[in-house]
Amino acid sequence: MQGPEPLGYAHVHAAAAAVADRLRTSLPAAPVGVVLGSGLGAVADHVLAQGGRAVDYGAIPHFPVSSVEGHKGRLVLGTVDDVPVLLMQGRVHRYEGYSASSVVFPVRVLHALGVRRLIVTNAAGGLGEGFAAGDLMLIEDHLNLTGDNPLCGKNDARFGARFPDMSDAYTARLRQVAFDVAAAQGLALQRGVYAGLLGPSYETPAEIRMLRTLGAHAVGMSTVHEVIAASHLGVEVLGLSCITNLAAGISPVKLCHDEVKETATRVEQAFSRLVLGLLPRLA
Ligand code: HPA
Repeated sequence: MQGPEPLGYAHVHAAAAAVADRLRTSLPAAPVGVVLGSGLGAVADHVLAQGGRAVDYGAIPHFPVSSVEGHKGRLVLGTVDDVPVLLMQGRVHRYEGYSASSVVFPVRVLHALGVRRLIVTNAAGGLGEGFAAGDLMLIEDHLNLTGDNPLCGKNDARFGARFPDMSDAYTARLRQVAFDVAAAQGLALQRGVYAGLLGPSYETPAEIRMLRTLGAHAVGMSTVHEVIAASHLGVEVLGLSCITNLAAGISPVKLCHDEVKETATRVEQAFSRLVLGLLPRLA
């Protein structure tokens, strides 16, 4: 698997310097980071409406730009209840043809910009018992079934250790905060294991039965590589899935991206309220 030399430490810091330059404002010490998945951009709109500033991914050197329809691509810096936040509105996926190390490049840039706590969000198919489209799920753990890992290749110790621990990747402390905030909002929160697959085809019903046997509750095509890179960097993660559809073979209808987008739009406000409620608690 010898490919081109992956983007390294110098690229990450060049990108971070360009972001700081473009934002034309001094960066806060430790912004809370957020990766917003497809159709979950309302948090960014809120932060922009409160005076936040945005930089398009295309203006940041080395930054990967998504080709998926419905995925905006910009970084947004602002505040929520006076807490500094740095949002990624949109991400790239391994299935777009980006290498796993390119997929996690933005997470490394967030870290270079001071992020030490990160909320990762995604749209996912639901296979947990009693799950329904429109549910929100707190990610307790993941299964990386992509067959790939962003840390493959020579390890750069400036990012982290060769063999990073993953036993508390979605930290118990932040999960408790999420439950407290959801309860205070009267929001029911599912919880479970997110299985990350390569995509872009949706799963077969047989694959969904396999995932159930493996202990998965939600399935999607993102997140796991970012969380591996975050753990490598020592960044604490809180993960949230928007269950946009029931998984293949459970759903009575065929899966389609339109259903995913429709459900994400339907729950976007509740989802955003949860994230906006969480952000000040992660400072
Ligand atoms: N499978 C994989 N990824 C997804 C799904 C799904 O059912 N829904 C949204 N993203």
